[in-house]
Amino acid sequence: MMNIRKAVFPVAGMGTRFLPATKACPKEMLPVVDKPLIQYAVEEAIEAGITDMIFVTSWTKRPIEDHFDSNFELEYKLEQAGKKELLECVRAIIPDHVNCFYVRQKEALGLGHAVLCARDIVGDEPFAVLLADDLIYSHQESALTTMAQLASQRSSSVVAVETVPESQVSQYGVIDPVNGPDEEQTYQLKGIVEKPKAEDAPSNLSVVGRYILTPKIFELLAQTQKGRGGEIQLTDAIAALLAHESVFAHQFDGIRYDCGSKLGHMKANVEFAMRHPELKETFHSYLHELLRQVKV
Ligand code: G1P
Repeated sequence: MMNIRKAVFPVAGMGTRFLPATKACPKEMLPVVDKPLIQYAVEEAIEAGITDMIFVTSWTKRPIEDHFDSNFELEYKLEQAGKKELLECVRAIIPDHVNCFYVRQKEALGLGHAVLCARDIVGDEPFAVLLADDLIYSHQESALTTMAQLASQRSSSVVAVETVPESQVSQYGVIDPVNGPDEEQTYQLKGIVEKPKAEDAPSNLSVVGRYILTPKIFELLAQTQKGRGGEIQLTDAIAALLAHESVFAHQFDGIRYDCGSKLGHMKANVEFAMRHPELKETFHSYLHELLRQVKV
């Protein structure tokens, strides 16, 4: 498989779980410490060598386009004020070699349909899909970088997985592996199912929002009928892909925060603040003091 150059970011969802915060602000723009969720996902894609970012948006998502565009007035003012570091940080959001594309998903027909909306821009090459809600902290190489290498070596699609308690399998896509993981923490799939009941789940390996897919998926997405929740599911198209190609699942090395939930988003904020170069010391002492007071 050739290098992965393109990434699709489905960002059309309403974000009802975060209302009222998301009434006028896309959920992907919610910050974790000082960066919006979508920027973490784009940075992960850039690290994996991806140059073309394709956002599948809807009519409330203009702030995402603005975030990845230059802001002449802001940059001019920061320059005049001699605020070099801030200027650099604003300019670095999208390096010069990276391009952004936007396509609208006109109807909320599901994740599979959102990915299909990017078909003409992706064309006939393998590509990545990143769900910004799933924020991944990696100690070393990012999850997507490892997955892109695996996909290249094996000329196949690769999805990210992690183990979850049985009580949670019904919230995710769940894989049915052929056997145990190989030396690269990777499983070959014989099946994959969207949000199964705990008693029907083929494993407790749940899909996290990172995918490398071959372009064959578009043909299958175009034929996929509505599935779980009445939506066109990406998981169902991946299940159909298995009749044509091998598909692998990589158990990545890193911590995944479910920033689509309030608790997951709070955990991400606390833990990213504890690692943030500017904040970590003061934040640690604050937490320490807070916990001491709570105990009393
Ligand atoms: C989507 C996918 C699901 C996957 C999950 C990861 O579900 O449909 O297979 O496990 O993302 O976050 P959603 O969270 O959009 O319901």
